[in-house]
Amino acid sequence: MEATPRGRAEQISASALAEVGLRYEVDGEIATITLNRPDKRNAQTFATWSALARIGDDLPEAVRIVVVKGEGPSFSAGIDLRLFTPGGVPGEGSFASVLGEGFEERIAQAQKAFLWLRRPEIISIAAVQGHAIGAGFQLALACDLRIVADDVQFCMKEPALGLVPDLTGTKPLVDLVGLPRALELCVTARKVGAEEALRLRLAELAVPVEELDTAVADLAAALLATERSAATATKRLLQGAGGRTLEEQAAAERAEQVVRIRSLFASG
Ligand code: CAA
Repeated sequence: MEATPRGRAEQISASALAEVGLRYEVDGEIATITLNRPDKRNAQTFATWSALARIGDDLPEAVRIVVVKGEGPSFSAGIDLRLFTPGGVPGEGSFASVLGEGFEERIAQAQKAFLWLRRPEIISIAAVQGHAIGAGFQLALACDLRIVADDVQFCMKEPALGLVPDLTGTKPLVDLVGLPRALELCVTARKVGAEEALRLRLAELAVPVEELDTAVADLAAALLATERSAATATKRLLQGAGGRTLEEQAAAERAEQVVRIRSLFASG
């Protein structure tokens, strides 16, 4: 559909996205981003992250729900392991070739792919089947909500590879499961299946894999039933709660409510 982009004059083309293994569709208030390199288990590269950030920059204002999913048997096998080899990824090089000055800024650029999914004006949903490893797990964690298939396998593999999780996943992980469990999951790099994911609050719902799309569509429809500005204000309020005292949060509730009630009365 035609919609007004948020910032840039032109939206990234479908063919440019296809080249980096992504598909992107906007249908009214719902945008769907599909990691689409199933033969490589949707492994992610710097080009993937730069395209994801660009989608976030250009997201049409009409969009209220962003679904992130993966084509094929795995949501995402994480970073493209070719980046660790001397040959690297064609057109992108390898870690060995980008280690110089500016490398930290390059990580900051990659993190932009993940951070926009928390904007108050949208609600992001990860639809996760099969493996969600490393950057794949972190992409799922970057979303507000996770619906998983019964074959899901979350794994924070980075420490086992000599790295740390650096794609914005550590904060949501600690927020969701608590510090001791986050530490145990990361340092053992063990896999978490659907039942445990539900128990640890890593997933809102687990369904048979063939029902994943329907479950996500149902959730999107239920979320869209609430008027947008109330949903946005509520998300903003809830997001701020963790960093505020009870009194500060009560004040934030009042401030948001004054705006809500004024706008309800103004619109009759
Ligand atoms: N990078 C590049 N290629 C990958 C890949 C990855 N991360 N994961 C899988 N592939 C490729 C395989 O090489 C294989 O390619 P070929 O057919 O050309 O040989 C193809 O995808 C299918 O892989 P498998 O046959 O292994 O598929 P599977 O279904 O049996 O297993 C899997 C799936 C468990 C995800 C397994 O592929 C795997 O363990 N992959 C590696 C996972 C990993 O270690 N990722 C890094 C996480 S750390 C991270 O992401 C770092 C960070 O954020 C900084």
